[in-house]
Order: sequence, then C-alpha cells, then structure tokens
Amino acid sequence: MVQRSKTTSVPTAAPTADRPQPDMPTIRDATPADLNGILAIYNHAVAHTTAIWNETLVDLPNRAKWLADRQALGYPVLVAIGPGTALVPAGVVGYASFGDWRAFDGYRYTVEHSVYVSADARGQGVGGKLMAALVERARSLGKHVMVGAVEAGNAPSLALHRRLGFVQTGLMPQVGTKFGRWLDLAFVQLQLNEALPLR
Ligand SMILES: CC(C)(COP(=O)(O)OP(=O)(O)OC[C@H]1O[C@@H](n2cnc3c(N)ncnc32)[C@H](O)[C@@H]1OP(=O)(O)O)[C@@H](O)C(=O)NCCC(=O)NCCS
Repeated sequence: MVQRSKTTSVPTAAPTADRPQPDMPTIRDATPADLNGILAIYNHAVAHTTAIWNETLVDLPNRAKWLADRQALGYPVLVAIGPGTALVPAGVVGYASFGDWRAFDGYRYTVEHSVYVSADARGQGVGGKLMAALVERARSLGKHVMVGAVEAGNAPSLALHRRLGFVQTGLMPQVGTKFGRWLDLAFVQLQLNEALPLR
C-alpha cells in the first residue's frame, strides 16, 4: 500500500503529468464528462480490492445511471481532479458520494457514503479532501449521521475515517465473501450535527 508522501513539490518546478500540482486535486461536482474516470476507478476496485463486494465489472451506461440517480435525489457525487495518473489519464483521481442508508422514512437523516481513489494516487490526501467536502455537503443537506461500511481489513480506509472523526460502532464477522475468503464488515459513523429533526 502506498503511504502518504512526506515530500512537498518545488514551487519553481513546472507541473508534469506525474507530479501533483500544488493546487491539486480540486474537488467539484461530477458531470457526465467525468464518467470514464469514475468507471476506471470503480472497475479497478471491483477487480483488485475488497472495498466493494462485487466481482462484476460495469459499463459506462451503468455509471451514467448511477450518477443521474444520485443527482436526481439531490445527493452529491464529488470528483477529485488531479493532473492525471497512469491509470486515469482523464484527470479524475478519485470520487465520493452518498445515498440513503436504508429505504424506510425513519432513516432519512442518515446517509451511507463511498470514496474511491485511483490506485496510483492513494496516500496523498485525495481521499481526505474528498471526504471533508462530502461531510460538508451532508451537513448542508441537514443530514444527522454519515455511515461507512468498511471491510474490516481495510486499514487505509479505517485510518482515513478515524482521522475525520468517524467512530467504529459495529463489526459483523463473515457477512461477505470475495476472492475465496470470508469478509468482516466494520461500520463507522460520524455524527454530523446535534439538532433534532424539524419534521
Ligand atoms: C481508502 C482510500 C479512499 C483512501 O484514500 P487516500 O487518498 O489514500 O487517503 P488519504 O491519503 O487522505 O489518507 C489515507 C490514510 O490511510 C493511511 N494509510 C495508508 N496506507 C495504510 C496502511 N497500509 N495501513 C494503515 N494506514 C494506512 C494513511 O497514513 C492516511 O492516514 P493519515 O492521514 O492518518 O496519515 C483509498 O485507499 C482507496 O480508494 N482505496 C480503495 C477503495 C476503498 O477502500 N474505499 C473505501 C471503501 S470504505
């Protein structure tokens, strides 16, 4: 696993495709033009990680529908735009989103998020920047709790969530499987505000 780089960029050096620019990544709402980057990152996670418990690759229309559905509900899909990587030349180096945690009305102030960073852009703070922006969006929508369901062996994800103030509130042993082994699911959650619901 790539660790966070301790080096800083030299201000006078010209930006290149393989060296992060000082103001990158920028975080913004996704548009359909970002779908190729989102698709590449998603499918890489499906094929190579236990971050998502699914072994079926998806196509562009699948991600386009996902983006449209999220945005139709008023929920954010944020992308991190970097200088591009070997895996994601389009410049989308990560993305994050949330949706309803569970369908019943009583859960309407709780959302469940996901965050993915291109494999060759990890450990540089991209995930942290995406998550900080996502948390702000959840607060501005009046949400109360943000939940993450994390494979219990996913140390970088658990470290990232801890740093952002998430606490682990559940651990479900062997509720999933991938790559020929059982997977444990850890639930982490962040209290977004203290206010009681208005309705
Ligand atoms: C989890 C993920 C989003 C983190 O993104 P990122 O850009 O690497 O995150 P950051 O650089 O902001 O922070 C990563 C943290 O993990 C830590 N970390 C990295 N590798 C680690 C390891 N092997 N063990 C423990 N911690 C590790 C880093 O030190 C950093 O923590 P710190 O800020 O307290 O030092 C990214 O690794 C990823 O996309 N993984 C695959 C998909 C995934 O797991 N998504 C989350 C599903 S819940």
